[in-house]
Amino acid sequence: PLPPPFQVPLPLPPVLKPVSTSGGIDRYEITQREASLEILPGVRTPLWTYGGTFPGPTIESRRGRPVTVAHRNELPVPTVVHLHGGRTPAASDGYPTDLVLPAGWPEAAPAKPHPAMNGHGTHGGGGHGMGGHGMNDPRAVVTRLTRDYTFPLDQRPTLLWYHDHRMDFTAPAIWRGLAGSHIVRDDAEEALGLPAGRHELPLMIADRAFDADGRLDYPALDPTLRERPGVRGSYLAGVLGDVILVNGAPWPVHEVDAARYRLRVLNASNARHYDLEAVGDDGRRLDLVQIGADQGLLAAPVTHSHLPIAPAERYDVVIDFAGVPIGSRVRIVNRLGSGRTRDVMAFRVARNVRDDSRVPRVLSNDLPNWRRSEAVRVREFSFRAGRMHGGHGWLIGGLPFDPARSDVTVGLGEVEVWRLVADVHHPVHLHLVGFRVLSRSGRPPLPHDAGLKDTVSLRPGESAEIITRFDGYRGRYLFHCHNAEHEDMGMMANLEVI
Ligand code: C2O
Ligand code: CU
Repeated sequence: PLPPPFQVPLPLPPVLKPVSTSGGIDRYEITQREASLEILPGVRTPLWTYGGTFPGPTIESRRGRPVTVAHRNELPVPTVVHLHGGRTPAASDGYPTDLVLPAGWPEAAPAKPHPAMNGHGTHGGGGHGMGGHGMNDPRAVVTRLTRDYTFPLDQRPTLLWYHDHRMDFTAPAIWRGLAGSHIVRDDAEEALGLPAGRHELPLMIADRAFDADGRLDYPALDPTLRERPGVRGSYLAGVLGDVILVNGAPWPVHEVDAARYRLRVLNASNARHYDLEAVGDDGRRLDLVQIGADQGLLAAPVTHSHLPIAPAERYDVVIDFAGVPIGSRVRIVNRLGSGRTRDVMAFRVARNVRDDSRVPRVLSNDLPNWRRSEAVRVREFSFRAGRMHGGHGWLIGGLPFDPARSDVTVGLGEVEVWRLVADVHHPVHLHLVGFRVLSRSGRPPLPHDAGLKDTVSLRPGESAEIITRFDGYRGRYLFHCHNAEHEDMGMMANLEVI
């Protein structure tokens, strides 16, 4: 029984308390475990969780103050944690074969040459054994039960998110609940006077499907997520749900003051795109004033009447409820949805208050502005459907992901331009770095491409150019499509910084 929209209150995920703050490091502990939670009213849904909640607990950090998160895996399968958007040393970046094995899981098999990988996509046969073909990665660092992930967080303040990244099984693991927010702050941002406190809301948007018993419905070929990766035939393009969750609640409602609110919006959906707009009961559209992108504040605000958001993108948006009649609602609507997937959530404007917040005309002046002439090379990558291991897959440069292969090697500190060419929609994400969007199909970037990004939403048939400096750390990283099903079905590649 699905609830009518705008009845369930918007949950605000708990902010995690460090177990220790000594030695200049905040230390956190998270146990990954199964839990049954009430998502649909009156029904218990079994989930895989970070710490027993969905979304997982929010971590709040200061720029440059390192954090260690000790993850303990009490789930029935191996896991990997990645902090999306984090500028993280490779050892803690959650490479898909750096598994944390649960108790009782067989020892990792010794590395052997990469076999023809079966089981991918829809026509694969057989599996590749417990743990996937990651077992054939000689560089994998596998631990049992626990692993400490250390994040220096020496980066621009922004909304990051942590999620599972296990080889071949990322999509179903996120779907089952393995996602949480990690907010980085600093003094400069706090001095701007932006809406804060209860006027700042993290909004993790994710669609899900449920079966008649209230269980999450995911078309995995192997529902135990142990042996055989991939999804059933008609889901090759990605798995969509018909229930829109915000912070884990279906079409929630939140009571607000008639004041400015800072919305930290994350699209944590596996495959669903949104084009968000805010509509009052009188049909009037409210401005969405974008102040930040994936990797922090813009130079100056950009006003949108609607805002497209692809999987893994984040938008930092200020909306002003002043002037909205008290007692009326403002609905957040997805212009790309239809029927009940058109509704996302609603705000009910409850009272007038004095609002001292502001949106300054200048938000930041530390945005990197790399010039084409600085680039030591231009690379081109196609993101296309293709054949892999005898079945359907999604390929970068004609190849499916292989941890044992070297794809791209960049020099630490070098600037490069990448040209990304898409057949259908592909939100392309680079680990380690933020980038600027230079162009889309030879034309100037779109208004929502402003600022520093770590995910760019390629539209069908489009080629986008991005520019970045590969700064931070040496080591083995990734770039991939963040349609989570595409990612699991091969659309990922190695990025080696040397
Ligand atoms: Cu959001 Cu490679 O990840
Ligand atoms: Cu894709």
